[in-house]
Amino acid sequence: MPLLTAGFHYGIGVFEGIRAYKTGKGPAVFRLRDHMVRFEQSARILGFKGLPYSIDQMVDVVAETVRKNAYDDCYIRPIAWLADGGWNLTTDSGKAHVAVAVWEQAIYLEKKKAEQGMRACISNFMRHHPNAMMTKAKTNGNYVNSYMAKTDANRNGFDDALMLDAQGYVTEATGANVFVVRGNNLITPEPDAILEGITRSTVFALAQDLGLNVREGRMTRDHLYIADEVFVCGTAAEIVGISEIDSRPIGAGKTGPITMQLIDAYKQAVRGTHPRSSGWLHHV
Ligand SMILES: Cc1ncc(COP(=O)(O)O)c(C=O)c1O
Repeated sequence: MPLLTAGFHYGIGVFEGIRAYKTGKGPAVFRLRDHMVRFEQSARILGFKGLPYSIDQMVDVVAETVRKNAYDDCYIRPIAWLADGGWNLTTDSGKAHVAVAVWEQAIYLEKKKAEQGMRACISNFMRHHPNAMMTKAKTNGNYVNSYMAKTDANRNGFDDALMLDAQGYVTEATGANVFVVRGNNLITPEPDAILEGITRSTVFALAQDLGLNVREGRMTRDHLYIADEVFVCGTAAEIVGISEIDSRPIGAGKTGPITMQLIDAYKQAVRGTHPRSSGWLHHV
């Protein structure tokens, strides 16, 4: 990629974060088509008139890239960016280029760490307003906001930050969606100012299988403080319990029992041993 590439200078690009897992039938990509559909949607939201490859072609290319690199467990990064022009601040004056990278990635937190959960704070950086930066699109530029919030959180001794929207309601973590457990209910913010995570939708299904009521709803900061359990989920993070927020312990101050059940179900789903696995895994 030449140094003088508009996408690199102005954050005009879209990407996906996908994982492939070792299963009893060889490596398989988790929810590959759903990711490639979102990739195409992100490009559309950003204003690209089209990508050089169809969703079907992208599915094939990702599977082939995983196969040729012969990894069992890996992270996959399809990316499209504005090049061949684009200097006058219009998407139309350049072209979308596409690449796929894969790298080996170790998988789960050790059991002890998973049980411990992570410490989060509420960021004083606000999540994007959807009329400023479209949050349904996984655009490169959106992540400037995440970088600022997470860097700040880490410098203050927290593992990650949870972010509020312009009205002060809970949105998501810097790179993952957030859920609250209260009794038998699982609640997650409405998809207003969040990325609609594919793991989030996986959790909906797995939680329903466990007999939990799942709903989307507006959530305030103090809803988090008084929850029985809070966890975040995303392709990279998978499912991670939150032990404390703003130095207030959540539940018993470690990953809660429902979160642990969801972690187990998710592990089975990605490894091909869950009844839902066959609908979600794309063998390469
Ligand atoms: C800001 C943000 N929200 C949510 C998610 C979770 O999305 P998914 O489950 O599709 O990985 C991610 C992860 O990519 C993210 O970066």
